[in-house]
Amino acid sequence: MKDAIALLKQDHKEVKDMLEQLSETSERAGKKRQELASKIARALQAHMEIEEQIFYPAFKAAAAKKEDQKLYYEAVEEHHAADVVCQDVLRADVTSLNFGGKAKVLKELIEHHIEEEEKTMFPHARKVMSKEILQALGIEMADMKESVMNGGLANPSKAKTNGNKAAKTRATKGKSSGRSRVAHP
Ligand SMILES: [Fe+2]
Ligand SMILES: [Fe+2]
Repeated sequence: MKDAIALLKQDHKEVKDMLEQLSETSERAGKKRQELASKIARALQAHMEIEEQIFYPAFKAAAAKKEDQKLYYEAVEEHHAADVVCQDVLRADVTSLNFGGKAKVLKELIEHHIEEEEKTMFPHARKVMSKEILQALGIEMADMKESVMNGGLANPSKAKTNGNKAAKTRATKGKSSGRSRVAHP
């Protein structure tokens, strides 16, 4: 069973691959662009949701250093920016040059965010969270991802009532991120 960080890294790889594919499409590949943009939006939403509902709050609760607290706030803000640009991409005309520009900005933004998580936040998380906690969080996250990907909205109450140890030891703020969900075309 993958732990929380391994799971998030796997998501990162999938999203990066799809963004790479999208960046290689032209205005003539409207249908492919549409499909890819839709898949990316769905994957990103699910990923950001499980991070904001489960991983980030656990990291923030475990992090004693101000530097780590800052990482948390920065990451949340980057999610917000990614969400805005992602919605922009979904609204853009796939046959326009404009679409390519927006898709490129989304790709750069996500790549930057992923790099910060993988090079800074995750290594710090491994220092402040035990293996057992990361395993337990991984189970909880895989569970939530499945329900989000199956079309259900994220259910913060589920994370809160989950009786596992990790859920109890971390501060389960569990509030909805309040981020508007992307409407998929
Ligand atoms: Fe993130
Ligand atoms: Fe991430």
